[in-house]
Formats: sequence, C-alpha cells, structure tokens
Amino acid sequence: MAGITNSAFRRLCAEYGGGLYVCEMVTSRALVERTPESMRIIKHSPEEAVRSIQLYGVEPNTVRAAVRMLVEEDRADHIDLNFGCPAPKVTRKGGGSALPWKTDLYRELVAAAVQEAHRGQIPLTVKIRKGIDDDHLTALEAGKISRDLGVDGIALHGRTTSQHYAGQADWSAIAALREALPDIPVIGNGDIFSAEDAVAMVEQTGVDAVQIGRGCQGKPWLFGDLQAALNGSTERFHPSLGEVATAFRRHAELLIEHFEDEFRGLQDLRKHVAWYFKGYQVGGDVRAALARISTLEELDSLLAQLDQEAPYPGRAAEGSRGRAGSAKRPHLPQDWLDSRLMNEGHKAMISHAELDISGG
Ligand SMILES: Cc1cc2nc3c(=O)[nH]c(=O)nc-3n(C[C@H](O)[C@H](O)[C@H](O)COP(=O)(O)O)c2cc1C
Repeated sequence: MAGITNSAFRRLCAEYGGGLYVCEMVTSRALVERTPESMRIIKHSPEEAVRSIQLYGVEPNTVRAAVRMLVEEDRADHIDLNFGCPAPKVTRKGGGSALPWKTDLYRELVAAAVQEAHRGQIPLTVKIRKGIDDDHLTALEAGKISRDLGVDGIALHGRTTSQHYAGQADWSAIAALREALPDIPVIGNGDIFSAEDAVAMVEQTGVDAVQIGRGCQGKPWLFGDLQAALNGSTERFHPSLGEVATAFRRHAELLIEHFEDEFRGLQDLRKHVAWYFKGYQVGGDVRAALARISTLEELDSLLAQLDQEAPYPGRAAEGSRGRAGSAKRPHLPQDWLDSRLMNEGHKAMISHAELDISGG
C-alpha cells in the first residue's frame, strides 16, 4: 500500500505473525530511471524473508525493463503487477484498473512481465478489480488471460473502479473467479478488518489466500491473528493501551531506521496515530500532539502520559478504517469503452501515460 507498507511497517507486521508483505507500489518508469524514491520503495531489510515488489505500469516495454532489472539485479523474490488503482489521474490515461478493459494491451503487458520474471524463476502475480463499473466487468477475462500466460496467482479486489473504496466489496465476484479458474491460486481482497472476516472470506469464496489493505492500518498484529485463525485457533491479540503504545513506539524506531532520519521517520508515523489509537481512551490534546511529533524524546513523553493498563476497548477499536469515500464516475480516455482493443490514439497515448503516481 502506497504510503503505508514501507520496509518499517512490513517488518513490524511480520514481528506479529506470518504473511507475504508487499512493498508500496512503484512505477516501472521511475524504477527503470532509478529515481531515489523508487529505490527507497523497493529497499528491503535483511530481516525480510521474502522481497515482494509491486509494479505499476502501462507501457509493456517499460514494464519489461523494470521486471528485467529486478530479476537481473536480484532485487525481488516475488513481483506483483498492480491493475487495481482507481485514481482518476491514472485511469484517465488508461492505467490502473482501466487497463484490463483493453485486452490487447493487458495481454502484451502481462506477457512481457511473466516472461522476464520467469527467466529468473521469480513468481509473478497480478492484482485486479472487478471491472470499470457494473456494465464493464473485466475480472473473469483478465483472470483467464493471466492464467493462460502463466501468471502465478491473481488477487481480486471485489470492487469496480467507479466504486473506489466505497460500499461493500463483492465477495461473490471473488467466488466466481475462484470457480472459473480452478487451476491458478486466487487471492481475495476487500473488507477484511479482522481474522474472522478472513475466515469468512475463505469459507464463502474458496480462495487460496486473502489480501489485506486498510485493515492493517494501525493494527500490525492483524497478521498474527490471521495466522492463528487460519490455523483454527481462537486466540486473538487484544492489546491494552500499553501494548498499542509499545507497537507504535516500535513502528517509530523502524521508520527512523528505514528513512535513516529521525524527523522523516516520525513525520511518516503521524498519519498512523488515529488508526492505532482508534477506540482507546487517549485525550484529544495527546492525540493532537502525537500527530505532530518530530523527536523520539517527545514521543516517549507523550506515550508516558497514557494509561498503560487501559484494557482493549472491544468493538470501538475494530471495524473498518482508512479510506472510504464515495463512488465516482470513472475518468477514462476518450472512446475507451467503445472497444476491447486499443485504437491508434490510445496506442500513442499509452506510451506517455506512465506518471509518477501512487496508490491502489
Ligand atoms: C492508502 C492506500 C494505499 C493503497 N495502495 C495500494 C498499492 O500501492 N497497491 C495496491 O495494489 N493496492 C493499494 N491499495 C488498495 C488495497 O490494496 C486494497 O486493494 C483495497 O484497499 C481494498 O482492500 P481492503 O478493504 O482490505 O482495504 C491501497 C489502499 C489504500 C487505502
């Protein structure tokens, strides 16, 4: 997740339990150009067991070059291609979740990536949405193309582009993909905020794995709970306020290490405050001060003011978190929906379409 799953957060999550932790998406153009930010995004710490990198791209040759770079320089153990992004500035140029509608472009791009990844025996997966809107669904066809090209797994977010993050994810679309493609791992995504949600998704859809987005924001222990639940255990981590503070402090330490800068690390931590302390008794002034921290000393003195013994508040700390928003009409290139194939204008546009964007 862009802006969230840097090496620091991935390490913190892994400290609570197993999982495959994917880096923030990186644009293939920026990666090929080796911009400092893209090199930071793909950086892994030696503690990370599997180096999983997600690429965003719209132009097959650039994606090919990016995958080749990751493989030849031994920078990844798993590569995922992101076709889930609903941001207007991305879909307006035919990228992200708008792209699978054009089956020729999708096929060319995925084929290039699979070929390069498999030359180095690196598994390659794709992340897609249900479609552009309810009248323009793409998941089943994109899934089949991916499977036929030798992709190693398909993650499906059960929403359309026009839904963004609003409403409820449609798990029946995930079940339909699972059923239609029995010969490839399917990973279900959308609205898993607890271990119970994950178990329910597996039961209702038959997926091989689940993918977590917003649910882990401020809740790095969710993966430990998932591991327990999927192994049949009812044990859950219900942290006291002191335990939340300990996780938050550890996140701070890891961020400072990741950015190699105390201020930059703590600046990055600020956006996590509301998620961590959701439902806990923390005064407005302490919350506000936490959202402005810039030194570890300040952080420690604020955390010391919390009632360490305050128990887990139950439901108030649970449920959905993070981005929600409302459904929006998708922004697409002109005439995009007229045909499943690219016209000359689209081809010319796509070679310039790769922006420095982030998000999914
Ligand atoms: C802040 C934020 C950043 C995201 N960044 C990415 C990303 O880089 N790559 C991606 O595939 N999905 C990204 N997503 C989408 C999530 O992976 C996920 O598909 C979506 O939030 C639905 O799952 P959820 O209900 O578990 O959150 C992002 C979502 C949010 C809220």
